Amino acid sequence: MTPTSPSAAGEPDPRVPYESLVGFATEVFAARGVPHARAHTAAEALVYGDLAGMRSHGLTNLSRLYLPLFDDKRVEPDAQPEVLADKGASVLLDGNKGLGLWLASEAMDLAADRAAEYGIGLVSVRNATHFGCAGHHTLRAAERDMVGILASNCGGQRIARPPGGRVAMLGTNPMSIASPAGPELPPYCLDMSTTAVPTGKIRQAARAGQSIPEGWLTDAQGQPVTDPHALDRGEGFPTWLGGRPETGAYKGYGLALLVEVLAALVPGAGLGPTPEAYEGTGGPSGRDDDIGILALVVAPGALRPVEGFLSQAGGLFQALLDCPPIDPDAPVSYPGAREAATAAAARADGVSITSALYGELREVADQWGLQVPAGVNG
Ligand SMILES: NC(=O)c1ccc[n+]([C@@H]2O[C@H](COP(=O)([O-])OP(=O)(O)OC[C@H]3O[C@@H](n4cnc5c(N)ncnc54)[C@H](O)[C@@H]3O)[C@@H](O)[C@H]2O)c1
Repeated sequence: MTPTSPSAAGEPDPRVPYESLVGFATEVFAARGVPHARAHTAAEALVYGDLAGMRSHGLTNLSRLYLPLFDDKRVEPDAQPEVLADKGASVLLDGNKGLGLWLASEAMDLAADRAAEYGIGLVSVRNATHFGCAGHHTLRAAERDMVGILASNCGGQRIARPPGGRVAMLGTNPMSIASPAGPELPPYCLDMSTTAVPTGKIRQAARAGQSIPEGWLTDAQGQPVTDPHALDRGEGFPTWLGGRPETGAYKGYGLALLVEVLAALVPGAGLGPTPEAYEGTGGPSGRDDDIGILALVVAPGALRPVEGFLSQAGGLFQALLDCPPIDPDAPVSYPGAREAATAAAARADGVSITSALYGELREVADQWGLQVPAGVNG
């Protein structure tokens, strides 16, 4: 298959079978020394971004984020997480720089195991690395008829400023909650950065030569910035979910602090807000090492018959879907439903990736003596 730019040749972007992409990413991680089963778990977390339409956190991050982490020895391919405390329902782990894409799924699964026993399970992790899409991991709990919550701070990385502040002090601090939505409907899965958008979306726009809407970045004086390159020049600061203080910025900022407290302060991971933030120019500082993760699972089935919970959940989410829409062509939905529909179509027809991304995967394949996965439409 020879992928071409759709804009140049009018051809569609390549579509690649999901299993081939996971197999490829598994081999890439394995080539970097990640044990095979672990590499597969990480590959599923990475490809989820493309599968579910969260492309800012899919395979685009292989060359940009994860492989450089290996090059710079900021991730330990076969790290052995260490149990620092185990109280039954709650566990504290040192992730020992394990690959976050894998570690977050492990933490979620352990929290779900403990929730099955105690009704609730908390796994708190320090010294982790970037986990990709939070929602991929929380869905593992929903598959077990439980409610999963996951959050991660960005270690010592500081790119976003407190409202009214002149110094960058926090990261985009993502969080997710997933719950079953009954036997018929896709799970509810809220999956988001606590800034208006993650940096990945700003960089996507920069690569595509597009400007960004007002409300994603501000300059040093707090004025809107529409040039996405301002982020990596250190001249654009991500705004909080909610926008300006008068439109709710303190809610997004407050949620970011919720993440900082629960995901990083509780396990003792690296923090964004420290006095070191004031040492520079006020621009971006620090690195996203020693990331903290919160994995919290609630098992309603440990407290009451799970069938009752599932049937009530089905009623809740069906009632939302049945809400009369303003526009008859735009039915009401809920978080997670869009991603589930996108993922189902991509599993059936192949995962759509851009020609540019396909080219990047080919380069990675060449570098590591691997075969780039073939497309279904090329
Ligand atoms: N690892 C990290 O450091 C990091 C940091 C930031 C973000 N992320 C990840 O980036 C990904 C993208 O984050 P985002 O904030 O851009 O998400 P987003 O804005 O695309 O979606 C946020 C939420 O809104 C819901 N939603 C949006 N439009 C909807 C619609 N029309 N109908 C129903 N629901 C809708 C989605 O289901 C999702 O739960 C997420 O997977 C997140 O975990 C990771």
